[in-house]
Amino acid sequence: MSHLPFILKTIKQAGALILKKSKTNYKIQEKAKNDLVTEVDNLSEKLITKAIKSTYPKHSILGEESYFAHKKEISEEIESSEYIWIIDPIDGTTNFVRNLPFYAVSIALFKKTTTKKSKNFEYLEGELIAGAVYIPKLEELYYAEKKKGAFMNGKKIQVSKTPKLEKAVLATGFHLKGAMRNLPYFKKVIGKCRAIRRFGASAIDIVYTATGRFDGYWEFNVKAWDIAAGLLIASEAGAKISDTNGNSIDLFGQDIFVSNKKIHNELVKIFRTV
Ligand code: IPD
Ligand code: CA
Ligand code: CA
Repeated sequence: MSHLPFILKTIKQAGALILKKSKTNYKIQEKAKNDLVTEVDNLSEKLITKAIKSTYPKHSILGEESYFAHKKEISEEIESSEYIWIIDPIDGTTNFVRNLPFYAVSIALFKKTTTKKSKNFEYLEGELIAGAVYIPKLEELYYAEKKKGAFMNGKKIQVSKTPKLEKAVLATGFHLKGAMRNLPYFKKVIGKCRAIRRFGASAIDIVYTATGRFDGYWEFNVKAWDIAAGLLIASEAGAKISDTNGNSIDLFGQDIFVSNKKIHNELVKIFRTV
């Protein structure tokens, strides 16, 4: 059974809600220093959660904002269910607050491949089976299902064919906690590629790599909700995914490097010299 119709319907509803609320005087809070959450993040997550619970009552949900508020309960739920929805209700909240168009909703479905109990959910074994990233302000909807290719607004997408790093346009991010770690990497790469962009929304950086707008993207300290849907879309579009050392990553790992494949090894070699 395809879960995509449900995902696309729900993500569009969340996007419409975000656009509508963006014109209101919504509350903004700091979860930690410079880590923003708005009333709209919470409303978007509630809409998505409600839809999942009524359609898939046995599935569990890992949503950024509810996990922040109820870590223990959510971890237990995740341990006991086979399917886990991974949600970022607004990826790029700082952009949203500043009325920059680069913010997105991200919804992914993860299926456990083992019933073995893990140390905690961050060690889950399984695979992403469907996911979407929606950029409501730009009306761009990206989606994929395992082994069925990746699409943007109905058109099949693929990574770029850029063969060499010197011609590559890359993206990176400076997560609050990973920023200082990234600086030496940034310095190493900046003179060796054509350009580096920093859009401030991991989900968008990844799907833009999937469409070939970027040739690669790396960041440190990202979370599963930032990358889950994007990673499935990128891998279905032909991307190579690893950490910056070239080692395979799991979804709950924190360091990520996604590329068009062709420039992957060249960049990993540079990353390894940091
Ligand atoms: C953040 C954005 C940002 C990235 C951070 C994320 P949020 O997500 O994706 O680009 O640098 O790592 O935490 O907090 O806006 O959902
Ligand atoms: Ca995020
Ligand atoms: Ca978020």
